Amino acid sequence: MIEAPSDDSNLIKYVPGRTFVEQHNETYEFEELRPRFPDIKWPALTDIPYTDKGLQGDLNFSNLLSIATDVVDYNPKIGTEISGIDLANLTDAQKNDLARLIATRGVVFFRDQKNFDIDAQRRLGQYFGSLHKHATTSVPRREGLEDVHVIFAGEKSPDLRAMFTPTFLWHSDVTYEVQPPSYTSLKVLTGPPRGGGGDTLWSSQYAAYDALSKPMQTYLEGLTALHSADMQAQGSRELGRPVRREPVTTEHPLIRTNPVTGWKSLFYNPGFVTKIVGIPKTESDHILSYLNEIIATTQEAHVRFQWNKHDVAFWDNRVTNHTATYGFAPHRRHAVRVCCQAERPYLDPNSRSQEDDLAERYGITKANKDGAGIVNYND
Ligand code: SIN
Repeated sequence: MIEAPSDDSNLIKYVPGRTFVEQHNETYEFEELRPRFPDIKWPALTDIPYTDKGLQGDLNFSNLLSIATDVVDYNPKIGTEISGIDLANLTDAQKNDLARLIATRGVVFFRDQKNFDIDAQRRLGQYFGSLHKHATTSVPRREGLEDVHVIFAGEKSPDLRAMFTPTFLWHSDVTYEVQPPSYTSLKVLTGPPRGGGGDTLWSSQYAAYDALSKPMQTYLEGLTALHSADMQAQGSRELGRPVRREPVTTEHPLIRTNPVTGWKSLFYNPGFVTKIVGIPKTESDHILSYLNEIIATTQEAHVRFQWNKHDVAFWDNRVTNHTATYGFAPHRRHAVRVCCQAERPYLDPNSRSQEDDLAERYGITKANKDGAGIVNYND
C-alpha cells in the first residue's frame, strides 16, 4: 500500500511527478506469472525453418485495418496505435497483415487487451515462428511457460541506471543468436499509474540507416559486427543465477534487409555488439560510439509509449532498438514478453532504404544530409 500524503483541506493536492495509488496489498492476480529462475540446462540452439508471415500480408493491411476503429501513426518513421482490435481473436489473414504492419512501422500498439492472456500471447507468437527461450532471464512460475520472458520490478528492485549508461540500455532482444527474433510482443500486467513512469521507447533502425551519409552507408554495408551473450551470462553467474544455455557470440551484417518490406536497416545493438570485424579496434570503437549516438539521439527515429494495464506493444526486433525507462519506484512493473526467432540476418544489395522507397512511391521530400541550404539556427 502506498499512501498519499495526508491533507486536511478539501483541495486536490497535486504533487508534481508523484502519482499515489494503492496497489499490491492483496492476492496478486498474476501470481502464476511472477518470475522464477529455473536451474535447468538447454542444448545450443540449432537451425530452425522460418517463413515470414508478413510476406502473406496484404500490401494495404486491409484485412486487419477493416476491423479497426482508429489507426494513428505516432510519427512518420515509427510507431502506430490501432484501436478496435482484439489480438486474441484474429483470423490468419489479419495475423499476416499484422506481421506486415509491424515490419513496416517498427512497433504497433494495442490498448486494453484483456482477452490476450499469456496463452493467447504465446499462440500468436507461435503463429509467427518458433518461440525463443531466453538463457538467463526469468520465466513465469507456472510450469510450461519457459519461452516467456518476465519483466518484474518491485519496490526493492535495483535501478539499472546505476550500472549502465542510458545509451547502453538501448537494445534489440537477443541479437547474439544466429537467428535473432522478429515479431515480439510485450504486455504490461501491472505498471505504475499513467504519469508514474515506466514508459518504453523504440528507435527505428530503418531511420538510423537513413540518417547515415551515402559513403557511411556503403562503408557499413561491407562490414559485420560481433554480438555477444557473454555479459548477460556473466551477470547471471555473479548473481548466483543459472545460465540455462551456454552464451554464444555471433557475427552479423551491420546493415540487413527486412524480407517483408525489402528495406535496409542498420542492425546494430548498443547492448550486445562488442566489435566490428576486420577493422582496427580504435576505428571500431569510434564507429560504435557514432552508431550509439545515432540510435540514442535521433529524435525523429524514436517513439515513446506510456503504458496502461493490459496494453500490448508488438515490435520487429530486426528493425528497432528499444529501452525501458527507470525511476518509477516504488511502483510495481510486471510485463511478459514473447518473441519468435526469424531468419538469419542477410543483406540483399538490391534492397532499398525506407526513405528512398517512400520518397519514390509518395513523392515525399528526402532529408537534406549534406547541410546545403542551412543558414541559421533560430531556436
Ligand atoms: C524489453 O527490454 O524487452 C522490455 C522493455 C520494457 O520493459 O519496457
